[in-house]
Amino acid sequence: MTQETALLPTSPVAGDDHVPLRKVFVKTYGCQMNVYDSDRMSDALARDGYVATDAVEDADFVLLNTCHIREKAAEKVYSELGRLRELKKARASEGREMVIGVAGCVAQAEGDEILRRAPAVDLVIGPQTYHRLPEALKRARRGERVVETDYAIEDKFEHLPAPDRAKTRARGVTAFLTVQEGCDKFCTFCVVPYTRGAEVSRPVAQILAEAEKLVEGGVREITLLGQNVNAWHGTGPDGRDCGLGDLLRHLGEIDGLARLRYTTSHPRDMDDSLIEAHRSMAKLMPYLHLPVQSGSDRILKAMNRRHTAAEYLALIDRIRAAQPDLALSGDFIVGFPGETEEDFEDTMRLVESVGYAQAFSFKYSSRPGTPGAELTGQVAEDVKAKRLERLLNLLTRQQREFAASCVGREIDVLLEKPGRLAGQLVGRSPWLQPVNIDAKQSQIGDIIRVRITKAGPNSLFAEMVG
Ligand code: SAH
Ligand code: SF4
Ligand code: F3S
Repeated sequence: MTQETALLPTSPVAGDDHVPLRKVFVKTYGCQMNVYDSDRMSDALARDGYVATDAVEDADFVLLNTCHIREKAAEKVYSELGRLRELKKARASEGREMVIGVAGCVAQAEGDEILRRAPAVDLVIGPQTYHRLPEALKRARRGERVVETDYAIEDKFEHLPAPDRAKTRARGVTAFLTVQEGCDKFCTFCVVPYTRGAEVSRPVAQILAEAEKLVEGGVREITLLGQNVNAWHGTGPDGRDCGLGDLLRHLGEIDGLARLRYTTSHPRDMDDSLIEAHRSMAKLMPYLHLPVQSGSDRILKAMNRRHTAAEYLALIDRIRAAQPDLALSGDFIVGFPGETEEDFEDTMRLVESVGYAQAFSFKYSSRPGTPGAELTGQVAEDVKAKRLERLLNLLTRQQREFAASCVGREIDVLLEKPGRLAGQLVGRSPWLQPVNIDAKQSQIGDIIRVRITKAGPNSLFAEMVG
């Protein structure tokens, strides 16, 4: 396939008389970047007349957008493909087609190996080539088994449709916007540098244009995404180099955009300008996901995290000095090769001294092709399980304490969607906690002042003030 044929926007629009509507079912695994990519792929397919369906058995095209981060995540995909094979057979017996595609990080990592392990798969497409999906799907429908995992030379974002106003409206008042992709950090446990490639930043003008479109579609809060979002860099309208802090300030000038967030950050890339944004920008929410993985310097070194526990703590102090109301979130890995009981205690001590509002912790999963997989001193499963349980207990306690500390406070909540009970809406606190409140449907998208009355295990309850 030539580059030109892949990129020509010749497809008819959805609803065109000559194009029967076809249905696509997309299932997304993994991180928020996959959520963003799934929407962009659905938008690209819409140009060829594909409408989204929630019922997999009705789908002409099933697309799994996959994650390779831990073994379990990758294996889930194969069990799903086993189920899909049966569905595909059932549809074929009724004379109906079902094309099965695998996108995302498993696609990039395993390529045509997927076709061998899962014979029902027709199409494998890696994250760097999503703009070629419509063309690849046409080839798959003609009977070709397609594998597209090259690193495309063209910029996929220039060729993928920007968010459409009507679809944005249907997707709600918060949105993700990928500003940076890939990773050059090469932590020794992690597959991302291999599945997503080298760090690439999208240009300022492209990001601002997309953000403005989102806001026109009713979005009030944007979360900037990147595997290392705070490594984002670009050239500002004044021709000078700028970093994420400047980008946030530019975005902050968009009328109607009320809230900004960003994720995920690496401690090494938290620069002064970004910390300053936390001090001075009211639109930048006081919440920061800043993974540390371990509290042991020995393990941090073996992980190639390139900072010590003390440097991380000093950084937290600086950020909290700029924004005292900051809620911190983090990621932790227990049982990295060579981790001793003493190393693990260092992690527990670090957690105690930081106090996290939220956190994600994982048992180390050895990933083929990463340096960690070659290390001696792999930790036994039962040891990992015990450490994970202790860490989880501590982190859950901290999360509850943080939620309890919110009770009685008056805060702003962005109302996002209907709640579980009639007459209720669910919104988000500045610290990303879901907040349940009695409010009218028509208030979705409003930011209202509330008083927190109660903290549940996973959400807060509030009443309106004023
Ligand atoms: N770029 C982000 C992390 C992306 S992956 C960062 O640098 O923090 C999300 C999380 O998955 C990581 O923070 C890590 O805690 C976890 N993770 C990554 N690889 C893993 C592995 N091999 N085993 C267990 N957890 C892993
Ligand atoms: Fe993976 Fe490390 Fe890159 Fe994060 S910084 S994506 S953990 S290699
Ligand atoms: Fe998973 Fe790829 Fe995201 S491995 S966490 S989907 S970048």
